[in-house]
Amino acid sequence: MHYRIVAATCLVAALAFGAVSTVMGQNKQPAPKPKEEPRKEEPKPEPKPEPKKEEPKKEEPKPEPMSSEDYEGMMKKIKTAQGKLKANLKNKKGAEAAAAAEELAKLAADILRYDGDVKEGDNKGKKVRDQKDFKEWAEGLKKAAENLAKHAKASKWDDAETEKDNVARTCSNCHDVYDK
Ligand code: HEC
Repeated sequence: MHYRIVAATCLVAALAFGAVSTVMGQNKQPAPKPKEEPRKEEPKPEPKPEPKKEEPKKEEPKPEPMSSEDYEGMMKKIKTAQGKLKANLKNKKGAEAAAAAEELAKLAADILRYDGDVKEGDNKGKKVRDQKDFKEWAEGLKKAAENLAKHAKASKWDDAETEKDNVARTCSNCHDVYDK
């Protein structure tokens, strides 16, 4: 081979090589971007059960409020029942005393219907029947009268006397605060 041809061939080869490597260099791909992790789907929250429609809370059916007038009439009956109770107890008439005590207990349940407002103090203007102590005294009267009826029927006079005093105490405790 002629020396020139060899040289030219070499040159071409060199150029070609250079070009190829340049191109390849250019082609060198940039480090592949870290593949984006496929977004992990947020775990879907369990489909919530349809929010239940708030049922109106079932409250104990409240008895009709009692006007002051009716209430006073009821208190008078309470006083009459208490009078009968005392007299029959004194004479040791168990059945009659028990009947009066039961009447008293029944009437006592109506005390919680009183529609009056508290007249003075922190709770002024609120319903008397919503006051804790008022409720306790009303319930205390009912309970004492019920116990008394049992004791009178069983001729347990001492126990009956104790409950008679408890009855009287609820009257005066409540009146001291709410009968103004
Ligand atoms: C839990 C409270 C409470 C208890 C217990 C209670 N009372 Fe009363 N009482 C009242 C209130 C309040 C009045 C006032 C009512 C009004 O003026 O509207 C009243 C009023 C009365 C009156 C007056 C009625 C009138 O004509 O003005 C009598 C009599 C009476 N009570 C008797 C009794 C007797 C007897 C007892 C017990 C055996 C008793 N009470 C237990 C709250 C109570």
